[in-house]
Amino acid sequence: FGYRQNIFSTSEMPYDDEQIGLKDQITIHFSHVVAENTPKGMAAEKFAELVEKKSNGRVVVQVYPNGMLYSDNNEVEALLNNEIQMIAPTFSKMTNSLPNWQVLDLPFIIENNDELKRVLSGPLSKKLLDELELMNIKGLTFWSNGFKQIASNQPITEVEDFEGERIRMMPSSILRQQFRLLGAEPYASSFGDVYYDLENKIIDAQENTISNIYSKQFHTMENHITLSNHGILCYAVMMNEDFWNSLDEQIQEIIIESLEEMQQWQYDQAEKINTENLKLLEMDDSIQIYELTDAHKHQWQAKLQPIYEIYNNEVNGEYLDELLHELN
Ligand code: LMR
Repeated sequence: FGYRQNIFSTSEMPYDDEQIGLKDQITIHFSHVVAENTPKGMAAEKFAELVEKKSNGRVVVQVYPNGMLYSDNNEVEALLNNEIQMIAPTFSKMTNSLPNWQVLDLPFIIENNDELKRVLSGPLSKKLLDELELMNIKGLTFWSNGFKQIASNQPITEVEDFEGERIRMMPSSILRQQFRLLGAEPYASSFGDVYYDLENKIIDAQENTISNIYSKQFHTMENHITLSNHGILCYAVMMNEDFWNSLDEQIQEIIIESLEEMQQWQYDQAEKINTENLKLLEMDDSIQIYELTDAHKHQWQAKLQPIYEIYNNEVNGEYLDELLHELN
């Protein structure tokens, strides 16, 4: 990308100077795996727009959607190697390196968008982001993609319907436990493989947000969707730490300010896109959509009960307490 020439040449030139030489320009390569018309895709574009405007074109954010550069499996490594400078993976995908993060993967804890926003902007999230330092990564903020639903090739409403179903999940040990407790067969794979896995009947179902299902046309192969809202799907926005440290303070401020300015917009956008995409799915006669009834929800919750103990005892009870406290 020629980023090496660009990154480390941050002169003290004033930002209102209209003659920004190429050598003074800073390019941030931002890679992600979802489509452009999704909460993450739109947020990456908005961020690029704000940063470019605030820096008068000195900082350019190049966004690479759809996993065109890297998949879930190698984007963190590419970030660490500074081949790209920014990514925003789901927190679930960071849990193998940072097990405490599994607290956000626990099912049926965060119940609505207001609670979700509160948690994503709260002290526990800040603490989780700070843990990225252990990996030499600068954690910037969390973005939302709302709640996960179950999409499947046959109805899943009663808890027994999970029996023997091969369900794709993001790699996360708590998510694996979740599906085992429900009686399903969990199968971890990267987002870029889901379409192929469905087409080739390697999986029967998956958990994901409506916007991810709709934008990748997964519903054409999984035409039963249960609106379970059983878990959240959110993104940790992060940067290569050496790259971050190489930026002068004014540029760091522009990045932070841009993210702060767009935070509420991002949360609202996540809600809006998921709602709009659901309406489009509801209009499609070939898709069956089920609301999870209270009775079925209680069945699911009863099966899932041991998962909180598992997190409490085996991972970090303190973080679970903090999460529950933030929700009270
Ligand atoms: C998934 O793998 O299903 C999601 O993490 C994709 C994404 O980034 O929203």
